[in-house]
Amino acid sequence: ALISLRQLLDHAAEHGYGMPAFNANNLEQVQAIMQAADEVDAPVIIQASAGARKYAGEPFLRHLIIAAVEQYPHIPVVLHQDHGSEPAVCQASIQSGFTSVMMDGSLMADMKTPATYEYNVDVTRRVAEMAHWVGVSVEGELGCLGSLESGMAGEEDGSGAEGKLSHEQLLTDPDEAAQFVKETGVDALAIAIGTSHGAYKFTRPPTGDILAIERIKEIHARIPDTHLVMHGSSSVPQEWLKIINEYGGDMGETYGVPVEEIQEGIKHGVRKVNIDTDLRMASTGAVRKFLAENKKEFDPRKFLKASTAAMKDLCKARYEAFGCAGMA
Ligand code: G3H
Ligand code: 13P
Ligand code: NA
Ligand code: ZN
Repeated sequence: ALISLRQLLDHAAEHGYGMPAFNANNLEQVQAIMQAADEVDAPVIIQASAGARKYAGEPFLRHLIIAAVEQYPHIPVVLHQDHGSEPAVCQASIQSGFTSVMMDGSLMADMKTPATYEYNVDVTRRVAEMAHWVGVSVEGELGCLGSLESGMAGEEDGSGAEGKLSHEQLLTDPDEAAQFVKETGVDALAIAIGTSHGAYKFTRPPTGDILAIERIKEIHARIPDTHLVMHGSSSVPQEWLKIINEYGGDMGETYGVPVEEIQEGIKHGVRKVNIDTDLRMASTGAVRKFLAENKKEFDPRKFLKASTAAMKDLCKARYEAFGCAGMA
C-alpha cells in the first residue's frame, strides 16, 4: 500500500532504523528496489526527480509505482518527489499521487543559485500548508550540498549550486535548523554535511574534516523530534568502480559516503538516506560486464536482467545495513 513519508519515518524513529530512498527512472530500478524489499521484508521509499519525469514521462513513472504496489500489496511504499524546484512542481506531484514531496528551497528555482533563508522558509511553508491538507508529507532542505574540500556542488551534469560555496553554506546550522522546522512545519529536514550528488564526492576516503557526521549529532541534539535526511549518500562502491573500468569504462578515482558513517548518522536522527549513484554504478557495471562476456547476445532482456540483479543486491545490502529489513 502507498503510505506517507511521515507515517514511515515516525515508525523508523520509534524503532531506530533508517530508510534508503532510492531514485528510480525505469522498470528495472523499480523491480530491483521491490524485489530486494520483498526478500528482506523492508518498507520502501521510491523517489523520482525532475530528470526521471523527463526521462520516463509522468504517466509511465506513476504507473510503474502503481504496478509495484499491485504486485507487492504487503509492502508499504512511499512515493516521494525528489528536489522540487518550486511550489508548482510539488503541487503537480501531489495531484499526480505522490505521497511525499521535497521542496528544495535551499536553491532558487533555477536550482543553481543559493537562496536566502527567507526565500527558503516562504516556499517551503507554502508547500507544507498545501501538502498537509491532503495528507502528503514534506521534506525541506537547509544548507547547500557540496564538497568541503573544494566548495563545489560537484555534480558533473550541472545539478546543484553553481560556483564556490562558503564553509557556512556547506554546513547546516543547528539553531537555524530549529527555527526553520518551526517556521515551515516540514516532516523531514535534509541537511548539508559535506556530501554532494553524483559519483565524485571525495578525492580520498572521507574523514571527519570533509564528512561532518558530528554536525548531524549537533543538529539532532537541537531538534530530536525532526526526521533528518542525508542527500548525496551513495557509497560509490569500489568493487563496481573497478568492474566498470575493467570492462571498458573510464571513471576516475573517487570515494563516497561509507555505510558505517551512515549507520552512525542513523544513531543520531537520520531516517532517510538518498541513494541514486550506487544503483547507476551497479547497473552500468553489470551491463558492461555482461556484454563483454557475452558478445553474441543481442536480447536486451539478458543484460537488463544482469542490471536488475546487481541493483537488487545493492538495495538488499542497504536495507540490511540501515536496519529496516524485517520492518515492513
Ligand atoms: O538529485 C539528484 C538525483 O541523483 C537525481 O538525479 O536529476 O539526474 O535524475 P537526476
Ligand atoms: P547520490 O548521488 O549520492 O546517489 O545522491 C542521490 C540524492 O541525494 C538524490 O536526491
Ligand atoms: Na528528496
Ligand atoms: Zn539529493
